[in-house]
Amino acid sequence: MNGRIVQLLREEARWSGRFLILPREVVSMPKEVSKKEALEEIRERLEQCRCCPLCETARNIVFGEGDPDADIMFIGEAPGAVEDKTGRPFVGPAGRLLTDIIEKGMGLKRGDVYIANIAKCRPPENRDPFPEEIAQCIGFLQEQIDVISPRVIIALGRIAAQTLLDTEASISSLRGKFHEYRGIKVMPTFHPSYLIHNPAKKREVWEDIKHVMKHLGMTLPG
Ligand code: URA
Repeated sequence: MNGRIVQLLREEARWSGRFLILPREVVSMPKEVSKKEALEEIRERLEQCRCCPLCETARNIVFGEGDPDADIMFIGEAPGAVEDKTGRPFVGPAGRLLTDIIEKGMGLKRGDVYIANIAKCRPPENRDPFPEEIAQCIGFLQEQIDVISPRVIIALGRIAAQTLLDTEASISSLRGKFHEYRGIKVMPTFHPSYLIHNPAKKREVWEDIKHVMKHLGMTLPG
């Protein structure tokens, strides 16, 4: 327990005969909540969300996963079929490529970063989430970002980059340099699904990732 609370309880709490009267400062003191608990509370609220029609067709919400204390947060667009089935982000074919970028490219473990999406429910037939759906969902991601407070966000693909940066600029024009979202550095880059069909673009993604690693003082693999 917080030392200040212990001191207040010792010095000022008293027994009325029926009740324990707690010092006002203790009663109004915000409870210390860990990042993990704060994220769990957001997830519980997300599970109740019926704000847009996507929850009617989604099998599972895909909240996000990883280290609540991560320096790097990857943000994609929306769950695909495998993510919808498992409730986990980036675990299908695009996810395998993202995991390779993190583990083979950056030399980290997937669990060292945090991975989430703009939309938490799968849009039918893998269509892009509609702006109204994004507008209903984005508050949950904002809360996740506020809790995790990463040093860098890597925005994967057009939808993630345009949503976070509130712009209609193309991903090609946004990638390669740092932008800012609520005081956090954002590096937009191509989405792993796009890389599956355009492998030549992997080189540009690697440039973007190296920028991030350099900014964070990470050692670049030889
Ligand atoms: N594509 C995304 O944008 N997010 C996922 O979780 C999976 C595929």
